[in-house]
Amino acid sequence: MQNLPNIKQISHPLIKHKLSILRDVRTDPFQFRMLIDEISYLMLFEASSDLKLKTVDITTPVAKTKGEKLGCKIMICPILRAALGMLDAVFKLIPDASVGFLGFQRNEKSLEAEFFYAKLPKDYKERTAIIIDPMFATGGTAIDSVKFLREKGVKDIKFISIIAAPEGLERFAKVYPDVEVYVANIDDGLDEKGYIVPGLGDAGDRVFNTLN
Ligand code: URA
Repeated sequence: MQNLPNIKQISHPLIKHKLSILRDVRTDPFQFRMLIDEISYLMLFEASSDLKLKTVDITTPVAKTKGEKLGCKIMICPILRAALGMLDAVFKLIPDASVGFLGFQRNEKSLEAEFFYAKLPKDYKERTAIIIDPMFATGGTAIDSVKFLREKGVKDIKFISIIAAPEGLERFAKVYPDVEVYVANIDDGLDEKGYIVPGLGDAGDRVFNTLN
């Protein structure tokens, strides 16, 4: 968003193509999971482009040389439950990342997030946290999850969401202008139930086939 420098929209043709299939009401749970995985992979690739590197010694079959490896430890924080659909993609790209689960449940009356669970790795304070949640709706869960990690002493935090509502992003950016949020698309807004419009419906239900 132009006026919110910490909100980064990743406009890649492959992401746009896959997002259109993802949104389609006819896309079944199997294909939905595949697309969430592929989009998450492409988004993490972009969102990790500024991760710190360290120089390492390498011996190839031919010679000794210098190379680079990740110089920071990563903690991926999926927000239960829909973000579990994004987790495999992270492990494909960063196999030695640790996972810090964050559980927030939406109160259907207030539409606000309510914390119910966290399980972080022991060395979480030393890690760069990448919070993942496919839908960035009111911004309540995003604000609460960053607040939770900050209060525990996590300094470096990024957020990856697939679809976002502009009002949620604006609310978040006022509280955390220093936390980068990567999104694939910023939709029109929220409906009266807090669903993103046009969105894709309930991401958790579509990943886990619990619509019925
Ligand atoms: N969570 C979802 O799964 N979908 C929305 O549209 C908003 C929040």
